Amino acid sequence: MTVLYPGTFDPVTCGHLDIVRRASEIFSELVVAVSARSSKDLLFSTAERVGLVTQSLKESGITGVSVTSFDSLLIDIMRTTGARIFIRGLRANTDFEYEFQMHLANGKMAPEISGIYLMPSESNIYLSSTLVKEIASYGGSLSTFVTPCVEKALRRMFHDNSQTKGDR
Ligand code: COA
Repeated sequence: MTVLYPGTFDPVTCGHLDIVRRASEIFSELVVAVSARSSKDLLFSTAERVGLVTQSLKESGITGVSVTSFDSLLIDIMRTTGARIFIRGLRANTDFEYEFQMHLANGKMAPEISGIYLMPSESNIYLSSTLVKEIASYGGSLSTFVTPCVEKALRRMFHDNSQTKGDR
């Protein structure tokens, strides 16, 4: 059974990887699906986000999980891949409101599709991509929040940007 874990992953964090690891222990065919678009401003391109998820899985020793990108409704990529279940992490009450709304909307459009929600481990409950980007922008330590390849990409992104700004 193919199960999708969709998200923006801008960038992927240890919180996401925690969900991937646990979902991959439950489901035999897990696909991380990186959404090309987001309502938020994106720091990394789709190709970069796919590359960082792929490399992070390797660095975390997670095997048997594939990575793809999509630029469509979630229900459309699910229909294309034949997946009937998607996974999402639920960190707090605030996530619940958003996830419930998405669940209802997806259910109206595609009643055959179901969501399964996993709680992150305690150490990742506060974590978000925004938090990680903010810490990176101040040059803070990221090693407990992201994999080495993501840390490197964030450093490069913020270092290069600050040089660009300084040059102007
Ligand atoms: N640990 C740590 N952080 C987590 C997490 C976890 N387990 N799960 C989620 N997050 C954080 C992310 O870091 C991110 O933080 P940010 O808000 O600071 O950026 C936030 O929660 C959500 O990010 P993510 O999990 O990557 O998902 P998303 O909410 O950006 O993804 C889609 C949403 C892509 C699944 C949704 O927009 C979608 O389905 N899009 C396709 C179009 C569509 O069908 N739209 C209609 C839907 S009804």
